[in-house]
Amino acid sequence: MGTILVTGALGQIGSELVRELRSQVGSDGVVASDVRGPVELESGIFVQLDVLDRDALDGVVREHNVDTIYHLAAILSAAAERAPDLAWKVNMDGSLNVLQVAKERGVSKVFIPSSIAAFGPSTPLDDTPQDTIQRPNAIYGITKVAMELMGDYYFEKFGVDCRGVRFPGLISYRTPPGGGTTDYAIDMFVAALRGQPYTCYLSPTTSLDMMYMPDALKAAIGLMAADSKQLKHRNSFNVSAFALTPERLAEAIRVHVPSFHCEYKSEKVRQGIADSWPNNMDDTAAREEWGWKPDYDLNMMVVDMLEKLPAFLDRFPSHD
Ligand code: NAD
Ligand code: SER
Repeated sequence: MGTILVTGALGQIGSELVRELRSQVGSDGVVASDVRGPVELESGIFVQLDVLDRDALDGVVREHNVDTIYHLAAILSAAAERAPDLAWKVNMDGSLNVLQVAKERGVSKVFIPSSIAAFGPSTPLDDTPQDTIQRPNAIYGITKVAMELMGDYYFEKFGVDCRGVRFPGLISYRTPPGGGTTDYAIDMFVAALRGQPYTCYLSPTTSLDMMYMPDALKAAIGLMAADSKQLKHRNSFNVSAFALTPERLAEAIRVHVPSFHCEYKSEKVRQGIADSWPNNMDDTAAREEWGWKPDYDLNMMVVDMLEKLPAFLDRFPSHD
């Protein structure tokens, strides 16, 4: 039996997905990789791998008999606006290397996540349909739309079974987020637990689709397990959990940490990106085609974050 390769495995999603996959298939069944490293993991294989190095990627796929790839290496939205050339290279060339190697080596399935960023200011922002206008105006979203199209292209032309979901902003406690526009949500928990005030870079009423990490892992693994014949869509499915504004999250945190104080000073680039993204996506297609359903609502997420984050707090940078 082949192994599962995770690229970008030290990131916010990868660090959790590797643990979850290993709990399901065993430590040796999952090869974690990242351009950063080398790192010593508690168990299992880690390979330092730059997805821009196609020969190295090909070598890892051959050496470890890789059968499935979760491709998570990417530059996220805010970081991408600061370094658009790098973002284009990593998000496009890196992803195309993954598809190309998958095609040449007969890898059975590839997961390439898309994002709420694949939509833009001309998209309907409420109940954003599965199939709608996609004209993002930030480099990250442009790469996400292009890779959605390339994922479908590789499936239709070459039979590479590439699948993806459009993740909302993800909230989690184990690993700091990697430079996105939705990171404020995690920053708020960190500040609240440290007893510090927080200045949010988005306006208090900016609404964005959000999701707790356990649901994001459930979505990725659930879609990869879905019967191919049931899928009418492939790259990529809307998946949604709850719409959130900064002021609503601050209130929900204050229920448990009454002293938490939040101020708002909207910052041009990230506010502009956030204003162009959906308030909430319609995920009917995912529910109908592969049985998607989230487990966590806002309040369940807040309670779990406040319980689990303290053990990992020293990993998170300070924002004062
Ligand atoms: P992250 O920034 O936390 O992690 C990305 C990882 O990729 C990092 O560990 C980084 O070192 C690695 N990386 C960067 N360049 C690389 C390269 N050239 N070769 C190999 N590794 C490289 O990102 P994440 O939040 O874990 O996101 C993973 C995927 O999910 C991305 O495609 C992202 O666009 C998508 N996504 C994330 C969110 C979210 O809220 N976290 C939401 C929507 C979509
Ligand atoms: N959370 C991600 C970001 O803000 C969305 O793709 O970049």
